[in-house]
Amino acid sequence: MPLLRGRVRCRRGVERARFQDAQGARPTRPRGGIRLTINKSKYDLNVEPNWTLYYLIHDVLGLTGSKQFCDRGECGSCTMIVDGKPVLSCMMLAIECDGKTVETVEGIADEGHPLIEAYAKHHAMQCGYCTPGFVVTSKALLDRNPDPTGEEVVEALAGNICRCGTYPQHVIAVKEAAAKLQVEKAAGRGQK
Ligand code: FES
Ligand code: FES
Repeated sequence: MPLLRGRVRCRRGVERARFQDAQGARPTRPRGGIRLTINKSKYDLNVEPNWTLYYLIHDVLGLTGSKQFCDRGECGSCTMIVDGKPVLSCMMLAIECDGKTVETVEGIADEGHPLIEAYAKHHAMQCGYCTPGFVVTSKALLDRNPDPTGEEVVEALAGNICRCGTYPQHVIAVKEAAAKLQVEKAAGRGQK
């Protein structure tokens, strides 16, 4: 599965950088300049080789919608969309994102995606800490499959963990958002 292969590769990179830090042997690669697009805005940034994408977006740039539950690629709460695919931002190095396009939950909210309203309407959250990760993963699903079955929604969200047990509500919310997107598309009103 491509996503899983990506997770393994990214995780090794992050673990190698952390190991080198712990050993006091910082990578010799200097602070690097990267260009990337985040939520349709272009950025020129200098990043440390051991910064994760999550750290860059959340801690450095202050886009705090994404959440870090586990910091080890197990929960999906830090999910962002990179070049159209959902990735675990705690497992991806920022320096690997040079030239890429990143979409976060803030961008999804700003474009008025129907997932936001559907999640609120169907109470697909309790504490809400996992919710941004679910919304971002669902957005990536609807981008590639505008009319998913319930089983396909469950499969797409299988990597996201909710400690509050809101799982059934996600399927309802995603299916409703998909239906609304279909109506908007038929009426000639796509997402901005
Ligand atoms: S915080 Fe990234 S997968 Fe859990
Ligand atoms: S709503 Fe609390 S962890 Fe999911």
